[in-house]
Amino acid sequence: MKIDGTPFRAIWVDETDGWAVRIIDQTKLPWALDIPRLTSMEAMAHAIKAMLVRGAPLIGASAAYGVALAMRTDSSDSNLSHAIVTLGATRPTAINLRWALARMEAHLRPLGGNARTVAAYAEAAAICDDDVATNAAIGRHGLPLIEARATNGRRVNILTHCNAGWIATVDWGTALAPIYMAFDKGIDVHVWVEETRPRNQGASLTAWELGKHGVPHTVIADNAGGHLMQRGDVDLVIVGTDRVTRSGDVANKIGTYLKALAARDNGVPFWVALPSSTIDWTISDGLSDIPIEERAQSEVTTMTGRAMDGSIATIRIVPKDSPAANPAFDVTPARLVSGLITERGLCSANEAALAEMFHETA
Ligand code: MRU
Repeated sequence: MKIDGTPFRAIWVDETDGWAVRIIDQTKLPWALDIPRLTSMEAMAHAIKAMLVRGAPLIGASAAYGVALAMRTDSSDSNLSHAIVTLGATRPTAINLRWALARMEAHLRPLGGNARTVAAYAEAAAICDDDVATNAAIGRHGLPLIEARATNGRRVNILTHCNAGWIATVDWGTALAPIYMAFDKGIDVHVWVEETRPRNQGASLTAWELGKHGVPHTVIADNAGGHLMQRGDVDLVIVGTDRVTRSGDVANKIGTYLKALAARDNGVPFWVALPSSTIDWTISDGLSDIPIEERAQSEVTTMTGRAMDGSIATIRIVPKDSPAANPAFDVTPARLVSGLITERGLCSANEAALAEMFHETA
């Protein structure tokens, strides 16, 4: 997608040296477009853990380049194992991390020396290219859901939570891919962007990227979604996901479950967009089997923004002695999901439908 007319991906190899990895530092958005140059596996592990890069598909792609950086320094078997363990421990919920590392290891383990390093960069690039093609396919399959509601040129109002746009992937996004395609086709779309406390990925990232593409949108407090659905102001909900069980339970950013409940109560379709690399075929019950990341209390007790004097400021919003809890994800049971938008097409959120659509991996 484009930033001020210039096409970008969310991660790429530095054109000047051909080996360092460039990312967009998402902790600086929307205040600054900062593009750090990462030169070590440790720097990449930090970038994932501290959420300079985030979003399930981008976490996977970043980890793949983390392995490539590690192999450039030392392509030994032990360093390959070390890189996979270190990068694999950065974030627990998004299964794409484990998927990408497993793909890298299967590809690299039989090789050695310089061939392993060259192959690591090539495989990381292939993971990125596959991600772009996959998300474009998700966009094409999700587009008819929007088109069907755009009869007689009426505006289609879509609610989304967190950021599942192009900067959460390598390009296009998952939940936002059908929205970008609808907008580019001239359909009158409008997105309700939930701010997504505590880290505000909606307010800072989704609003930023939709704005850069010119897509009409309105930021709302997380608590406003149910009210808007009751008023008939939401035609459909589309969210991304960090892990889907083989039975169709969906882990996504904290607060997603409440929107699925409100959508069900109000007859609003609730769709989840995902690449098949987000499906964890080894587990069935999302509530008991998906690890939920617990993040720092400070994400709840403070907020960061631009102060009136133009500086970026972090302020405390909770009494000094009040503790906070910060579960970063929740699980929406499959029964509340209208359907899954995958790279192969629309799929019901249940074991039989998923197994039929992805029969070779199920
Ligand atoms: O904690 P984050 O910002 O990595 O959480 C991201 C989400 O929950 C996204 O909705 C999900 O990863 C899908 S991204 C295409």
